[in-house]
Amino acid sequence: MTWFVDDRRTWIQRIFGNILLNGPVPKHVAIIMDGNRRYAKLKNIKKIEGHMSGFDKLVEALSWCFLMNVKEISVYAFSIENFKRSDDEVNALFDLAREKFQRLLDEKEKINKLKVCIRFFGNVSLLPQDLQVIISKVVQMSKHNKNLFMNICIAYTSRDEITMAVREISQGVNEQKILINDINEALIEQCLYTSNSFPVDLLVRTSGEVRLSDFLLWQCNATNLTFVKQMWPEFSVWNFYMAILNFQLNHHHIEKLRDSLLERTSKDIAASCKMSVIENRKVLVDRLKNKEIDDQENLQLLAKHLATEAIDSEIACQKNRTTQFLSSLNLKREDAFYQLSLCDI
Ligand code: FPP
Ligand code: MG
Repeated sequence: MTWFVDDRRTWIQRIFGNILLNGPVPKHVAIIMDGNRRYAKLKNIKKIEGHMSGFDKLVEALSWCFLMNVKEISVYAFSIENFKRSDDEVNALFDLAREKFQRLLDEKEKINKLKVCIRFFGNVSLLPQDLQVIISKVVQMSKHNKNLFMNICIAYTSRDEITMAVREISQGVNEQKILINDINEALIEQCLYTSNSFPVDLLVRTSGEVRLSDFLLWQCNATNLTFVKQMWPEFSVWNFYMAILNFQLNHHHIEKLRDSLLERTSKDIAASCKMSVIENRKVLVDRLKNKEIDDQENLQLLAKHLATEAIDSEIACQKNRTTQFLSSLNLKREDAFYQLSLCDI
């Protein structure tokens, strides 16, 4: 089955969709596609058939996102916790993933025409090698597209994502690319897989479970959360519309919350830069006391560090350091996918 289908909505569903388009629509929608196995049990079909119906629903949901001007969609396809399921189920899910991701490669022309950028968030090194190669080829094929971003979270948990970000930052400090005082919320956020994403506006979880299950925990601090009782394969366009309506009702509040978070982040940066300047001054005064540097040189340095512009200049230096660090991290990640994509499937 294709990943991209035409509008299958009835005329009344289209009218409701158009009414909703008069209000703000979420730019980034995240979905926890839960309940495939319970659906299978209800329908008396095999577990994997439940997951297959889940995939069909994903295709439908993608088309709704297109039609409702959503710019980015993140779906929880396989959690690191899911490795604990039976070998049979895990292998069947990976077979399904192989087939569907290969299909993405086959639909290259359509994907590039629709300008869909497909990204995979997660610890892909945990996946079978051949699946890693297919994934990397999909990434390479679609990385220049900018109309709709589809993030497939696979071998993913938020805790793992944050742990990985902390590791990258520690390495950056060790290699003296950044300083301890450069570490703040903004930097950690930029080291997550979602560094090039829009903020998550709306998160939907199906199946009646009211939990985030380690999905986009960092990213969902100013997000409208919608929990619906339907199993994922039963999720309807009406459920989707209700979630958008819910978002619209809370939109103003979420925007205000984001503004105050942004203000706190810039205060955070200024405070950490002030700390760097104070520490630098202390070092200078100690060196002066110990007569480690000659007076003339020291006077100039001290004057520089006492100047009121010192903090502003430290902010600029910090920005420079973190920008370079983050672009090298991005390059490293892109290169990992590129190297993988050169392998044969
Ligand atoms: C959660 O339902 C679903 C998953 C763990 C797998 C999600 C996969 C799909 C929807 C198929 C999409 C496939 C690709 C290739 C992207 P569950 O298994 O936890 O069901 P339960 O909650 O009823 O036990
Ligand atoms: Mg479940």
